[in-house]
Amino acid sequence: MYSSKITGLGFYVPDNVVTNDDLSKIMDTNDEWIQERTGIKERRWIPEGSDDTSAVMGAKAAKIAIERAGLTSKDIDFIVFATLSPDYFFPGCGIQIQEMLEMDTVGAIDIRNQCSGFVYALSTADQFIKTGMYKNILVIGAEFHSNGLDKTTQGRGVTVIFGDGAGAAVLTREEDTTKGILSTHLHSQGAYADKLIVESPSIRNWVPELMANPKDTSYFPEMDGKFVFKNAVVRFSEVINEGLEKNNLTVDDIDMLIPHQANLRISQFIQRKFGLSDDQVFNNIQKYGNTTAASIIIALTEAWEKGKVKDNNLVVLAAFGSGFTWGSVIIRW
Ligand code: COA
Repeated sequence: MYSSKITGLGFYVPDNVVTNDDLSKIMDTNDEWIQERTGIKERRWIPEGSDDTSAVMGAKAAKIAIERAGLTSKDIDFIVFATLSPDYFFPGCGIQIQEMLEMDTVGAIDIRNQCSGFVYALSTADQFIKTGMYKNILVIGAEFHSNGLDKTTQGRGVTVIFGDGAGAAVLTREEDTTKGILSTHLHSQGAYADKLIVESPSIRNWVPELMANPKDTSYFPEMDGKFVFKNAVVRFSEVINEGLEKNNLTVDDIDMLIPHQANLRISQFIQRKFGLSDDQVFNNIQKYGNTTAASIIIALTEAWEKGKVKDNNLVVLAAFGSGFTWGSVIIRW
């Protein structure tokens, strides 16, 4: 068996900053409510007329990650792309990356696991590397939320949370199994699929049906925020503990926890529960909102760029989201 090591990181967010005050001009909300409930001050939304999409932003982040890994796109053996906002219903964004980065005809898959998407993507790539099938895998998380949100007061409970962006990592095969990804832990619970969902358009409720029924707004995300919150704090804790126990580690071994940026209050709850200091938990939801499959990889990249993730550190990634799905990744950096 081999080990997989993250050898390159990159992220891209659109320049267009949307503050809470900007939102209060288009819907009945305010900076105080949003900051108090979520910690979010601003997010990036792709502006009208921009060419950015999930795949385009993913390619921009990927170029940075590949360069930082000291590789070229020709060295990549496989692509794993996590998103809930793909450019097309089909085919997926992974194959677009193959084309955009002028790569060889390598395989590409899309992962559809919402806020846990990047954790699932990393775990998938890790299996291909550990078994020796591939050497360098490009793992991307990207979301173009803003075009699919209800920007009226009716959608305010969901819309204020989400932001656009992308992040990418290059995962590389290593011989030293004491370093790199130590383990990954994945879970799902479909009983709560309807607690955070975009129901349409779907094959069950396709565009002609939607157009025939103007009252049907099930193409906007629906969320039972309180229920999601309550489940998130429990599952985050469980899956972090599961990862630590699997590796005979304890909370004291954690150097850096990067939680999915769902809500600053969820991150703070987890931080308090595990007794971690501010230096041991990285959050950037204040600037980017919840970027779903991109959030962990954007946060990991920013933490690394700031020198907060160092050689030999124990880094824990943890996610929870729609599905429900949740998971963790334990990394010896
Ligand atoms: N601005 C102002 N008021 C708002 C608002 C907004 N953006 N959104 C909702 N409200 C109002 C509601 O209409 C409600 O008013 P009412 O009491 O008069 O009916 C009130 O604020 C409380 O709404 P509620 O939805 O109960 O708020 P909440 O305290 O549960 O907070 C969330 C909402 C979304 C911030 C919170 O539930 C949450 O963060 N949940 C987890 C979400 C999450 O992490 N999602 C990502 C999954 S990974």
